[in-house]
Amino acid sequence: MSEAIQATRRSPLEQGRGESTKDAPLETPPPALALAERPMRCTARGIKKAFGETSILRGVDLEIPEGSFAVLVGPSGCGKSTLLRLVAGLEEADEGTITLAGRDVTRLPPRDRDIAMVFQSYALYPHLTVRENLAFGLKLRGTETREIQKRIEEASAMLGLDALLDRLPKQLSGGQRQRVAMGRAIVRRPNVFLFDEPLSNLDAALRAEVRVDIRRLHDRLGATTLYVTHDQVEAMTLADTLWVLNKGLVEQKGPPLEVYERPRTKFVATFLGSPKMTMIEGTLVRDAGRTFAEGGGVRALVSDDRFGASLVEGRAVTIGIRPHDVSLAKDGAPSMAELKVELVEALGSEAFAHGWLTQSGPSVIARLDSDDARRVRPGSVIPLAVDPARVHLFDPKTGNALA
Ligand SMILES: Nc1ncnc2c1ncn2[C@@H]1O[C@H](COP(=O)(O)OP(=O)(O)OP(=O)(O)O)[C@@H](O)[C@H]1O
Ligand SMILES: [Mg+2]
Repeated sequence: MSEAIQATRRSPLEQGRGESTKDAPLETPPPALALAERPMRCTARGIKKAFGETSILRGVDLEIPEGSFAVLVGPSGCGKSTLLRLVAGLEEADEGTITLAGRDVTRLPPRDRDIAMVFQSYALYPHLTVRENLAFGLKLRGTETREIQKRIEEASAMLGLDALLDRLPKQLSGGQRQRVAMGRAIVRRPNVFLFDEPLSNLDAALRAEVRVDIRRLHDRLGATTLYVTHDQVEAMTLADTLWVLNKGLVEQKGPPLEVYERPRTKFVATFLGSPKMTMIEGTLVRDAGRTFAEGGGVRALVSDDRFGASLVEGRAVTIGIRPHDVSLAKDGAPSMAELKVELVEALGSEAFAHGWLTQSGPSVIARLDSDDARRVRPGSVIPLAVDPARVHLFDPKTGNALA
């Protein structure tokens, strides 16, 4: 237990830079460890893969520029691990091409791709020490002993493993084991790092910490990285570019905030964000030169600038509003709905009111600031406000965002 706590308090990557980071001048950059000597552009084009009759990947395109951090997110079973295994060469594509630095590697075995993969299960050899685990792959490849030592020293300093090198995996906490697994990938000096849900076995505090470590590690190594997760917080915080996979196709890609703020489909809108975006069926109504989306107890002003010509009176729409964008309407400010509160979920820094707009309508969640959370009681009816720029509209039939 004490090890886990220690790991939570002191980031091993910080340790790698020396104990006295707080005394170091801020402008001092971390030591440049050029472990990934050749960050490479990695692409996948038109990738298709079926298992038996079931088509899992149905034409996936992926492009990760040199040294970039790409995160692939999507619900369980959508084909994330399959795609990663194809890039690694552990699985063969039915159709499509995978390239590394412009070279077609689609039919090359894993050993000729120089790709290192870190899995959810650490897959360390239980009878080997940390040092031996780190050395194992290099020995197999016939790397010289002195070179192996040097690489282990570098990786160990970077990941804060120095004190753990002579321990067996069973003597490590989950976070430490995952760092050893990362170390094993680093010592190989791969062109591309692949991570398949590496944090899912860790508790919440360690997840948050190792997540930061992984991003920091990436920033120092500059290696091209493809990271798979179904955790949207991980996806949002780690990615340079987010790739949202749904039913074997990339549904949207882009910088994480852009994807979050401008989801192009209902699926992307509800997949990213917690609590989930509320979806309400309605129609567009013009009133005094302005457009409102109305339905299910909501009457929300929408942005003419954003939707322009799509705002046709009488058009059926799905109205999407994130709980985080809804607040208590104050001082007679126009309200878009009245919420009958069922319960208030207080999380400390923020709170959420759950309730209904109409008796038969969908349940709705609104964010409250902590003062309001103290006053609002189950059974109260509260007016809700939303910034028109944050009201999303979708076509109910296609699920595509109105543009
Ligand atoms: N070797 C295999 N043989 C048959 N079906 C497979 C095989 N590997 C994966 N599948 C199926 O392909 C689908 C996609 O699996 P995959 O592991 O890629 O999903 P995932 O997106 O990584 O999901 P998760 O988030 O749960 O890890 C699943 O329905 C899975 O059952
Ligand atoms: Mg998977």
